[in-house]
Formats: sequence, structure tokens, C-alpha cells
Amino acid sequence: MLCQEHGQQAAGIESTFLNELGSWGAQGEGIIARVVDMAGSAAVAESGFNALDFRKARKQSLSGSVTFEELGYVAFPIKYLVPDFMVPCNLFVPILAKGEDLPTFVKVLDRGQFYSDAWRVALKEQRIDELYAEAHETAGLDEYFQEIMEALAEDEVTPNWQKALILYNYGEFIARHIFHDVYDGQFVEKASQWADALVGFLHAKKVSVSVIYRVFMNHYETFNHSLQVSMMVMAFCGHLGWRQEDVVRLGVAGLFHDIGKVWVDSRILLKPSSLTREEFAFILRHPQTAYEHLASMGWMNTDQLAAVREHHESMDGTGYPQGLKGSEIHPFARVLHICDCFDALTTHRPYKKAVTPFKALKLMQSEMRLSFDRHLLYKFIQFLGS
Ligand SMILES: [Fe+2]
Ligand SMILES: [Fe+2]
Repeated sequence: MLCQEHGQQAAGIESTFLNELGSWGAQGEGIIARVVDMAGSAAVAESGFNALDFRKARKQSLSGSVTFEELGYVAFPIKYLVPDFMVPCNLFVPILAKGEDLPTFVKVLDRGQFYSDAWRVALKEQRIDELYAEAHETAGLDEYFQEIMEALAEDEVTPNWQKALILYNYGEFIARHIFHDVYDGQFVEKASQWADALVGFLHAKKVSVSVIYRVFMNHYETFNHSLQVSMMVMAFCGHLGWRQEDVVRLGVAGLFHDIGKVWVDSRILLKPSSLTREEFAFILRHPQTAYEHLASMGWMNTDQLAAVREHHESMDGTGYPQGLKGSEIHPFARVLHICDCFDALTTHRPYKKAVTPFKALKLMQSEMRLSFDRHLLYKFIQFLGS
């Protein structure tokens, strides 16, 4: 039984599918700007954020394929900002003036200003949910998350689910960057620090899986699948009593496991209709492509590389890319395979609805059971009930 990568069946290829389509936003994240009834970008820039009322401003996607990155900005969703911390860098909202083709980025928050709850409410009232930072500020954004992590480690008041949510947002920020720039080795280091922080949190607070699961998105967004698989893998391995360094290593591998999809044409990944045999063959290559990329960059050890390369191998030998069987499959990959399939089943995708965790486990125990390590699947079911 294959754990497939696309919701549509290729002609003549194995029938039961688990879907993990990737609509990686890094490949052409389109620009949505607020349209204001004001002529000229200079006038908009001059009037500034306070003079503009966004409540009635309609959102408009810019025509053409220009991306924020090309304009020198990166997305910084408001959910990343934590009240009571300083704003890490200048943050902007794109505004489209009457008659202009490109937006003007109007500054909303200043670097170093105190982000109060009143600001959070004010932005919400203005229906602003996405802010943008200048692209060269990315390193500063990472420090911002690090500072919050340190403060939270000491904090006994913030509830665990909120801490888990902040860890989720930090992980999303890293995962977003990993898929945006697959050659940036700095983010391997950052991913390890993030995984360390997560494992420390899970361990110290004896966090139950329900807390982790609560912060997962119930719809499919860019990067979220890799991030969720990574978090689930670390929580599960903690439950299995694995050594901390192995948990962190597998967590980092989980964050990168689908990076091979960056080299699959997004028209194939997003195709809503059936794939041809040739198109399907491209999707089947992603574990091998990921392995080759990560091995050539020298970022991971052999266990992590095996996890990435073998995450679609099935215990009965029907998986890909090598068709390995049973004990030939690395234990890291067997764990990753279970968490990967569970997340793919329980997340809404552009072409299929999510199933409940209960239904997902039922499927995994019945139609798909030959794909998984029986003992690990049993432990995974126990873990989800813990
Ligand atoms: Fe995959
Ligand atoms: Fe996956």
C-alpha cells in the first residue's frame, strides 16, 4: 500500500491514496494589497497608517506574477507578534493607490516599540492580519522568537497551549524560510534550536498530545504539513522514551522531509484532475531528490538522511523510492511515515476534505496497515490517546 503524494490517481497506479500535496507559497506568493481611494503612491506614503481607514478598503490581488520577495519584503503575520514584547523590526502594510500598479508599503509598527494588547485590538479592528518586514530583517525576526522562547521557559503563568502556539509560529517561520531558500544552511541550525526548545517544553511541562494537536491548523497551508509532522514526530518519540538528541534530529529531518517537492513543478502538485503516469513519476521522486539535496549540503547525519529518503517506504515493500521492506527501513523513517500519513489524512487539502483523527487511525489500522511497523502503529494509537 502506497502513501501517495497526490490526491488524484495516476492511470494504472496503485489505488488507495494518502495525500500530501504541497502548494509551497514560496513559489509565487501573490500580492494582495488594500486598495485606497487616493491617487498616487507619494500621497499614500505621506498620509501614513493613522490617516487611512482600512475597514472598507477592499483587498485586491495584484495582476501579473510579481511577488513580495521581488519587492524586497517578507510576510510577517500578526499572529507572530506577542503582546508585551518589543516589535522586532519595522512592519508595513501594502496599500494600492488609485491608478498605481504596485503597492506602497506604509509603516504600521516601528522597530523597538512596545507591542501592547491595545495595538493588537486596533489592528484587528482595521481587519489587518498580515504585516510585512523588509527582507533583510529575517535574521532579526529569528532573534525575536529566541527572546520570547527564553522568557517563556521561565514563565509559569502562560498556559501550555499558548506556549505551544508560539512554538508553532516560530516553527512555521523557520519552515517557511526553509522552503523559500533551500540553500540557506543557517536555517538548519535554527531548526535544531527550535526542535531543542520544543523537546524541552514537551519534557519539562509533561505536555499531552492534545495540547500539541490543538494548535495544528485544520486547513492546509504552505509549510504547515512539514511543521506539523515534525512536531508530532517529536512528541511521539518523547512518548516512546527515545534519547533527546535522536528526538531533535528526527524533528529536524521532519521539517525537511518534503523539501524535494520544491523541485516538482507546482502545476503538477496543484493539478486538480488525474495525473498522467509521467506526472505521477515526478511526484514519486521527491524523497530521493530531498535526500540528494540534503546529502550534498552536508547538513544532516546518515540517520536523518535515511528518514527523509525512506519516509514513503512501506513495510510490505510497496513503497517508494527504493521499495524497501520491513527491517530494511530505518526506524526514523518508520516513525516519520506514520506521522506523515496521519497528518496528511487529518488535514484539509485543496482537493480533499480532512478526516477525523479517529477515522484516520481506523484507516491506518485497516486498509493501510501493511504499510506501517505494527508495533509502532500500536504505540502511536496509545500515544494519541494519552
Ligand atoms: Fe513526502
Ligand atoms: Fe509529507
